[in-house]
Amino acid sequence: MTMTKPVILTGLRANNDLHLGNYLGALLPIVDLARAKAGEYQINAFVPDLHSFTTPIDHNTLQEQIKQNLKLFIAAGLPIDNDNVFIYRQSYIPAHSELTWILDCFTGFGELSRMTQFKDKSQAIIDDRVSVGLFNYPVLMAADILLYDAEYIPVGDDQTQHLEFTRDIAERMNSKFGDLFVVPKPVAEQHQFFNKDQGLRIRNLQDPTKKMSKSDDSSKGVIFLTDTPEEARNKIMGATTDGLSEVQYDYAVRPGVSNLLDILSLLGGDKQAFIGQTQYGPLKSAVSDKVAEFLAEFQSKMAAINERDIWHKLEESEFLLRNVTLQKLYKVQQAVGLRSQK
Ligand code: TYM
Repeated sequence: MTMTKPVILTGLRANNDLHLGNYLGALLPIVDLARAKAGEYQINAFVPDLHSFTTPIDHNTLQEQIKQNLKLFIAAGLPIDNDNVFIYRQSYIPAHSELTWILDCFTGFGELSRMTQFKDKSQAIIDDRVSVGLFNYPVLMAADILLYDAEYIPVGDDQTQHLEFTRDIAERMNSKFGDLFVVPKPVAEQHQFFNKDQGLRIRNLQDPTKKMSKSDDSSKGVIFLTDTPEEARNKIMGATTDGLSEVQYDYAVRPGVSNLLDILSLLGGDKQAFIGQTQYGPLKSAVSDKVAEFLAEFQSKMAAINERDIWHKLEESEFLLRNVTLQKLYKVQQAVGLRSQK
C-alpha cells in the first residue's frame, strides 16, 4: 500500500498527566486540521511510548498513561472514523527504532550536545544518571517524522530545535544517498500553515518566564487536563501578573498577562475586549470561566469514550502503518547498502 496525501503528524509523550500547554500546542492544531481538511491530508496522531522513559518514570503506570493519551486525541475531537486519520503507538511499529539507529550513524555528537532541551533536562536530573536515550531523543523524533514523509508537525515552541534537526538530517541523507525523505517544511512555513505568527509556548501561571511543563515542581502554575474546573479556576485567579496595571499583549514586558490573553483567545474568547483595561481581575475571571468550561466539556468527553472503538482503530492503523514504514525502511536500507539495490 502507498499513501499519497501530504502528512501532518504529531506525538504526545505518555510520561505524566498532560496539561493545557500540550493541548493548545499540539493537540488542538492537529485536531482542527483533521476536522477541516482530513480529505486533503493524512493525519498521524501517535503516542511516542519509547520516548516516555528518556527521563525516569513509574513503569507500572505506563500502560495506563499510553491509553490515557490515546483517549485524549479522541476527546479533543480527532475524527477517528475518517480513513485518512491514523492513531498508533510508536513501539508497535519497529521501523521507528531501526531507522533511528541508521540516522544515529549520520548524526554528530556535537549536534545533539547543543540541543537546549537536552541541556535543560539533563541538568534537572540530580539523583539519577542522564541516559543516552535522553541524548538520542531528537534522532528518534526525526525517525518518527521522516518514516512517514511528514511535512507539517504541530508542536509547541520547545520542539522547534528538534524540528530543525529533523530537516538537517533529512537534507544530509538526501544529499548523500539521493531522494530518500521528504524534508519537513521550514518552521516559519509551518507556523503560517497552523495560522500562528510564532511557535506556541504557554507559560507557567506562577512563573510566566518559564513554559508550562509536566515536570514543574509545583503544580500551582500548571493546568492539568485532569484538574477539576474549580482547581483550574483557583490556579488562574492566583496567576502572577505584574504591577503595570494595564492589560497589554507583550511577552517581553508582561509575560503573565500575555499568557492569560493567549489562553483566552486559543479557547475561543475575545482577547481584544480586555486590551487597555486597567484591572486584571476581569481578565482573570474571563480566562477562569473559559478554562473551567473547556475542562468540564473535555472531561465529560473523556468519560464517554468507548475504549473498544479506540482499540479497533488503533490495531487497524498499526497494521497498515507497519507495512508502509517497512517499505520506507527498505528504501533506506538499500541506500545505505544493507539490502541489495536490485
Ligand atoms: P511532549 O510529550 O513533551 O509534549 C507534547 C506536545 O506539547 C507541546 N508543549 C507545549 N506547547 C505549548 N506550550 C507549552 N508550555 C508546551 N509544553 C509542551 C510540545 O511542544 C509537544 O508538541 N518530542 C515530543 C514528542 C514527540 C513528537 C514526535 C512530536 C516524539 N516524536 C514526532 C512530534 C513529532 C515531546 O516530547 O512532546
